[in-house]
Amino acid sequence: MTDDDFKTVLNRYATRFNQEIDRFFPFPEGEEKRVAQAMHYSLTRGGKRLRPYLVFETAALFGVTFEQSLNTAMALEMLHTYSLIHDDLPAMDDDDRRRGFPTCHKQFDEATAIIAGDGLLTYAFEIMSRPATTPNPAVRCYLIEMLANAAGAFNGMVAGQMLDLICAAYSSGRRDTEELIKHIEEMKTGRLLRYAVEAGAVLGGATEQELRALLAYARRIGIAFQITDDILDVTGDERTMGKTLHKDEKQNKFTFVSLYGLDTARRIARELIAAARQDLEIFGDRAQNLKNLAAYIIERQH
Ligand code: IPE
Ligand code: IPE
Ligand code: MG
Ligand code: MG
Ligand code: MG
Repeated sequence: MTDDDFKTVLNRYATRFNQEIDRFFPFPEGEEKRVAQAMHYSLTRGGKRLRPYLVFETAALFGVTFEQSLNTAMALEMLHTYSLIHDDLPAMDDDDRRRGFPTCHKQFDEATAIIAGDGLLTYAFEIMSRPATTPNPAVRCYLIEMLANAAGAFNGMVAGQMLDLICAAYSSGRRDTEELIKHIEEMKTGRLLRYAVEAGAVLGGATEQELRALLAYARRIGIAFQITDDILDVTGDERTMGKTLHKDEKQNKFTFVSLYGLDTARRIARELIAAARQDLEIFGDRAQNLKNLAAYIIERQH
């Protein structure tokens, strides 16, 4: 399968996923509907839907259907979108464009963008708590705990964002090491991607051995994904990417590119992806889409 074939598979999933979004969106009548509009705006303006797709495809390894993985996929995409809205705020990365459109705070205003992020984060957990997520309440509770942990302040995405900002702010006498950068990338980006795979495995009732293999895969693609994001910040095309580029150097971000340069960063990402594909060998052909996704992560242009 070529990269283009995989993109068709991913786009087909994204189209189906996008058609479900409005079903999750009751618009209130009062003036407060502005927050729902801002949430809906950010959720529906582009986005590759990689995390939902990972939930779906991992769960599908075990015969779980699109509908049965939808709540988890939707909640995760909402949570991810919240992280982007806040990441773009002037106090953070200060970005004007996201997914090819004005960022939430540009389209609305800063306060609305903050609240819209809060709204998406909170709503994600409401969706997860619904019986439609998965009928067994104990499994649901476990999925919720895992999501809170992946997104949170204790080795989760929030911790990664903190470290990303602190390192950038106090980096005059740069002391970045591979270990530190890996830690940042693993937390700020890797944890949510890992959650996608882990949640899919839990929804599917994976065995210990299967879970171990999937987690190894998820950990590697998570880091490779952010390394590629960092590479594309330097080499990408702004129109295709749909966001402002060449910002990491300006903002003193600690990335594999800042530490090693482009070639070594590319090599590290390639090695991670080759190993991630190996991790899935125990599933044979059933995991072909997940293997293709791994390849796509480093070959993507946006
Ligand atoms: C962008 O994630 C932010 C990072 C974690 C690097 P994606 O590249 O998956 O963004 P969307 O969801 O497709 O817009
Ligand atoms: C963002 O990393 C990670 C999260 C939003 C949690 P970046 O700041 O590199 O993402 P982009 O480049 O703005 O998409
Ligand atoms: Mg950032
Ligand atoms: Mg950013
Ligand atoms: Mg980036």
